[in-house]
Amino acid sequence: MPTATAAPLVLGIESSCDETGVGIVRGTALLAHEVASSVEEHVRFGGVIPEIAARAHLEALVPTIRRALDTADVTLADLDAIAVTSGPGLAGALMVGVAGAKALATALGTPLYGINHLVAHVGVGMLDGVRPAQWDDLPADLGALLVSGGHTEILRVGRISSEVELLGSTIDDAAGEAYDKVARLIGAGYPGGPVIDRLAAEGDPRAFRFPRGLTAGKFVGSAEEPGPHRHDWSFSGLKTAVSRAVEQFEARGLEVPRADIAASFQEAVADVITAKAVRACREHGLTHLMLGGGVAANSRLRALLADRCRSAGIELTVPPVNLCTDNGAMVAALGARLVRDGVAPSDAWFGADPGQPVEVVSV
Ligand code: KG4
Ligand code: ZN
Repeated sequence: MPTATAAPLVLGIESSCDETGVGIVRGTALLAHEVASSVEEHVRFGGVIPEIAARAHLEALVPTIRRALDTADVTLADLDAIAVTSGPGLAGALMVGVAGAKALATALGTPLYGINHLVAHVGVGMLDGVRPAQWDDLPADLGALLVSGGHTEILRVGRISSEVELLGSTIDDAAGEAYDKVARLIGAGYPGGPVIDRLAAEGDPRAFRFPRGLTAGKFVGSAEEPGPHRHDWSFSGLKTAVSRAVEQFEARGLEVPRADIAASFQEAVADVITAKAVRACREHGLTHLMLGGGVAANSRLRALLADRCRSAGIELTVPPVNLCTDNGAMVAALGARLVRDGVAPSDAWFGADPGQPVEVVSV
């Protein structure tokens, strides 16, 4: 086990989806944050193609590491540890990062940490400049709402290096995936989130009353007797409702009211995500909530979440958007924390785990 170091120099590698991210931190100070995205290569398919993402990581990994080292003005020999996302994520994409990190760590004799991607999203909140000025550290019992193309989860983070619990998650599509699919239905392009967000600004969010998934009594239950999906989300019914609405206009030869559909869809997503997240926080006594994931860029989600947190007495933290989307800085930040807390590095035999549970902070 390494001796706990006050401010270890850690390089973090992220490759769970379509971003090759490399970050370097010294303790909680961010020294470098480089990202190479393969998003352009997925545009014509309207979604991330795992094989293309894995190939792009392979090409981007070494140059991105080089750029990060240059920016931070450090060498590989200076590193106290390397951290890499071991899961959850796309298997082939994860494997590239894990293999690269293992090769580096073995060649350098540096401790290696295989860490959880979801917990790393929360880890970004420890960085200087992201952490609210009034916090010395992450508060105990922090809520984390993660919303991206790959995940929609609400977590309770008791202690980031060792105690993380999943309170609720999507049972089908991730919110970002729903955005991407709906954007396809209305011919708005990819990635769907930013285009729908823009289109929604010109539409009426009350034009259509789209369903809020898993809000019926049998799923939700009560605080005393929770239903099976009290804190979970589902976006498949919403997607079907949008598809029907589009079909009805097309069948009648009418122009599809794209802006109204976008605004009403966005309202349904933001409403159900924020309502359920705030309820989960209240019922678990969480008075701080951190937002993460690419959908954190969404204007309506941010506004509604801020309103509802304020009403519920919950302190909300939203990192800058470039640290909400997938990146290596968050991996490095969590890695540095594990070193500081004296957590043992991973053994040499761990592999990529596409389904790594959130409770497994490091492997
Ligand atoms: O965290 P992220 O970069 O990683 C992946 O999951 O790949 O998130 C990307 C997702 C995409 O689904 C994209 O459509 C969504 O974030 N997104 C948004 C917005 N900007 C990006 N969704 C809603 N509104 C936005 N403004
Ligand atoms: Zn992510």
